[in-house]
Amino acid sequence: MDRKDKAILPRKKLSSTIFRKWGEEMKNHQDLWKEEYTRKGIPSSYRSSPTKIVTHFASFLKNHTIPSGNLLDLGCGKGRNTFYLENQGYRVTCFDFVAENIDEINRISSENNLKITAVRQDLSQRWPAKDRDFDAAIDIFCYKHIVDKKAQKHYRTELFSALKDKGYFLISLAADDDGFYGSFLEKGSGRKQIIDPYSKLPSFLYSLEELIEEFSDLFTVCQAEKASSTSPMYGKEYQRSVLHVIFQKK
Ligand SMILES: C[S@@+](CC[C@H](N)C(=O)[O-])C[C@H]1O[C@@H](n2cnc3c(N)ncnc32)[C@H](O)[C@@H]1O
Repeated sequence: MDRKDKAILPRKKLSSTIFRKWGEEMKNHQDLWKEEYTRKGIPSSYRSSPTKIVTHFASFLKNHTIPSGNLLDLGCGKGRNTFYLENQGYRVTCFDFVAENIDEINRISSENNLKITAVRQDLSQRWPAKDRDFDAAIDIFCYKHIVDKKAQKHYRTELFSALKDKGYFLISLAADDDGFYGSFLEKGSGRKQIIDPYSKLPSFLYSLEELIEEFSDLFTVCQAEKASSTSPMYGKEYQRSVLHVIFQKK
């Protein structure tokens, strides 16, 4: 069996009521994401160049004796980071729950004979990934949209299983003082969940300490930073504050 085929196993059924209820909410989120990809309000909906931190991560992997191997792109969107990593010499499996994104990535991949396997997958359900098959994984602005703590814990457990021993994980998401998302936090409520008023998509915001703490039972930190930049959201420039953490599986 080819390594590409080995990375994917048949989907198994999840019977828990919690996940069934959450699954219904997820269908609604999938429709909202489809609308967002039509509206093209946030940079990942229209940019084709890779995220800067992903180019850094590729150098990090090469410096950590992983010049090739199997990578996972979680919540890959239209695949800008998947295509970049494949071009860097990796075999990439990518998951997203928007079927149109996955079909398009697979079409481009097969036309150009790329080492990419795109799978339609809700990351709050059981992942069709073989245990310990992946050298590293990335999540660029997806995890924060899984706004259920049990589903997030499930995600972290699936990620831990999918990674090889000492495998790496890059996560990138908006900080709680982000110039766009941070402005929707209710002051004094203590809750770190917001709803983007344009897309109606919910997400969690984090401080760097909270993000590290959330993964600390299963992962150690290799690099962590809060980065500032100016970038457009829905046609207007904002001062963005973004957290980047490279974790290593314990
Ligand atoms: C902000 S976009 C980022 C896309 C991509 N990572 C990038 O940087 O271009 C977030 C992506 O996560 C996907 N997503 C959100 N929740 C998901 C879930 N529960 N399962 C799978 N994909 C999800 C959305 O469909 C969307 O494509």
